[in-house]
Amino acid sequence: MLIIDGKKVSLDLKNELKTSVESCHASTGKVPGLTVIIVGHDPASQVYVRNKAKTCKEIGMISTVIEMAADTTEKHLIDTIHELNNDPTVHGILVQQPLPKQIDEFAVTLAIDPSKDVDGFHPENLGRLVMGHLDKCFVSCTPYGILELLGRYNIETRGKHCVVVGRSNIVGKPMANLMLQKLEATNCTVTICHSATKNIPFYTQQADILIAAIGKAGFITADMVKPGAVVIDVGINRIEDASTKSGYRLVGDVDYEGVSAVASAMTPVPGGVGPMTIAMLLKNTLQSFQRINGL
Ligand SMILES: NC(=O)c1ccc[n+]([C@@H]2O[C@H](COP(=O)([O-])OP(=O)(O)OC[C@H]3O[C@@H](n4cnc5c(N)ncnc54)[C@H](OP(=O)(O)O)[C@@H]3O)[C@@H](O)[C@H]2O)c1
Repeated sequence: MLIIDGKKVSLDLKNELKTSVESCHASTGKVPGLTVIIVGHDPASQVYVRNKAKTCKEIGMISTVIEMAADTTEKHLIDTIHELNNDPTVHGILVQQPLPKQIDEFAVTLAIDPSKDVDGFHPENLGRLVMGHLDKCFVSCTPYGILELLGRYNIETRGKHCVVVGRSNIVGKPMANLMLQKLEATNCTVTICHSATKNIPFYTQQADILIAAIGKAGFITADMVKPGAVVIDVGINRIEDASTKSGYRLVGDVDYEGVSAVASAMTPVPGGVGPMTIAMLLKNTLQSFQRINGL
């Protein structure tokens, strides 16, 4: 079985992005800038934001983190976003989720200028994706990273049956819509399963490409997978493990051991889809810079 190595691909991609950032600087005297806003002190969010900032700097982009207190009002956050929308040194704006209860996440998403929405969450970007205008939109980073992995591993997609389990706005829905597009790297027949789907194995057993984005450890077992299928595991779940220093370990939505005996190719957790997400965020930020500067 082929292990689809997201760690390696993301490193290759970051090196390519670093070279592109250098050539942007050489031709314009400017570099792409990503601003991340974090509200409150959620420890997991702080780790994600630190990683984004660190990776940004590694490839030569300007990284700015705006930290706001947990009791920040929606108005203050949105006013700040409007300022960033008008700041020519900012090419990408990301507001780390989850947000505190007093702030409406959708209102915040709507406030971001779609041309700087490098997370690809704005309805204009999602709408363009659904309509197949991929050259003019930002695709949300996790589905975009999966597409990049499939492409770099030459996984054939045309005419294949892709089954996506999960329909969230940030993974399942954009993923399914992406695989549906009439593009060389997609062009699948797509089925989406969710918590109200009856007899999920009936669908997953037909998948040539199975994408699991559920948030339930080991949900996809070997008996649910067609022999030879390509299996992409998006899930990141913490399970207790007394043998580790932290007392837990990360596992995916797929039972790796069982499914790896059936699948032809598979992403591990960790080291599969996860590392691609930050790399694609930076790719979107570079793309924003290139569009804004007419490159
Ligand atoms: N690798 C990465 O970079 C990355 C990025 C984002 C997320 N993730 C991980 O991916 C997983 C999914 O994330 P998400 O944001 O999409 O989660 P989410 O918003 O909680 O969505 C989960 C989806 O799974 C469906 N689902 C839940 N239980 C189910 C069941 N028993 N049978 C069938 N479908 C079920 C839900 O169905 P309903 O719609 O019917 O409720 C929902 O559509 C999580 O583990 C998350 O940590 C990883």
